[in-house]
Amino acid sequence: MGVLSLALVGNGWHPPLFREEARALLGPIEALHPRLAFVTQTESVLDRILGASLVDDVLHSTSRLWTYETDVTSGDVAAYVGEWAEEHLPSGSFAVRARKLGLGIEGLSRKEIECMVGDEVSGESRPVDLENPDHEVVVIIAGREDASSHWDDAQQNQMVLWGIRDKRSSGSYIGASPTERPFFKPVSLDPRLARLMVSLSLSSKSTSTVVDPFCGTGGIAIEASMLGIEVLASDLDSRMVEGTLSNLEWADGPGGYSVEKCSADEIHDLWGEVPGCSFVFDPPYGRNAWSSDDGLGVLLGALESARKMDPGGTVCTMLPSSPDSLGGPVSDDLLVMGMDWGSLRDRILQTGWRVTLCSPVRVHRSLSRLVVLCHPAD
Ligand SMILES: C[S@@+](CC[C@H](N)C(=O)[O-])C[C@H]1O[C@@H](n2cnc3c(N)ncnc32)[C@H](O)[C@@H]1O
Repeated sequence: MGVLSLALVGNGWHPPLFREEARALLGPIEALHPRLAFVTQTESVLDRILGASLVDDVLHSTSRLWTYETDVTSGDVAAYVGEWAEEHLPSGSFAVRARKLGLGIEGLSRKEIECMVGDEVSGESRPVDLENPDHEVVVIIAGREDASSHWDDAQQNQMVLWGIRDKRSSGSYIGASPTERPFFKPVSLDPRLARLMVSLSLSSKSTSTVVDPFCGTGGIAIEASMLGIEVLASDLDSRMVEGTLSNLEWADGPGGYSVEKCSADEIHDLWGEVPGCSFVFDPPYGRNAWSSDDGLGVLLGALESARKMDPGGTVCTMLPSSPDSLGGPVSDDLLVMGMDWGSLRDRILQTGWRVTLCSPVRVHRSLSRLVVLCHPAD
């Protein structure tokens, strides 16, 4: 099995979670820039990244140019890419696609780079074909991130990176809108977030089943099933059970599924002991979301039952939190489901799960959610 060196280009919506997703799916990565990750992988593992939520592009045969102090012109970039193409670009038609990340780099324009690199690389065995090329050379002009809505402590390197687009990567994941499904309710989770939570939960590598004890309209179940993972979904409300079943049938993913009516604190009785589980869910919460503890007991009951079902499993959930969390690292004082985060983390620990990642996501001006990943406490 061949070994590949790949650069992953992350979606600008949430660079820290892009990197976490890449780590969960592939193991160690080298973060070259908040939105550029370099990985060395065997081909067999590549499929995992193609279903990712926050990976916009996968490039192979890459090379890069750091631009710390020196001024780099489009002509310089074209000369470097031209030299690289001699060795790495197979013959056949090609197109150059330049893309700016963050603020880009002063003096480097996308259009100019596309023209100059095209001129430099083209020749008899490599004609330009912008419509239907055999190969796409992607040139990333990566600058500092603009004032993003999500705090990030990654190093803000400036660099130009280029490579050949992996044809199988389909670009940023959007998913069909939940309103297109046969059963829709406003609680339906954004497909991109649902897909991200499933990806993060795969960090244990042994997952064969995704369990959602609060399945609602089946947003998480659909994403898992589309990735070919077995799904065990349940909800206290029988209308949601019926709705999830019709949505799963409609989505027609390769993963098998069962959906039942059940209270979330009894899933271990319903499904029994099942090894290889990821518990992925967004629990119900009251009208006042982050400032009330309405859903707390239900959440803790679900975590206890999950632990009985698979003590070696993984949990990925999303909890309503105060919007104060977005400007810096998550503090223990942050209000999450009506209590400070430090205390809630301890309550989660008492159910047998240790929080290994928490990252806030903006929902709207007065609400954010904390994406929380847990592994077994012992
Ligand atoms: C926030 S919604 C989940 C939305 C879902 N992720 C989707 O994409 O549609 C929470 C769900 O939890 C269910 N629920 C509330 N209390 C429950 C309990 N004690 N046990 C199981 N399900 C419960 C509600 O019926 C609701 O469907």
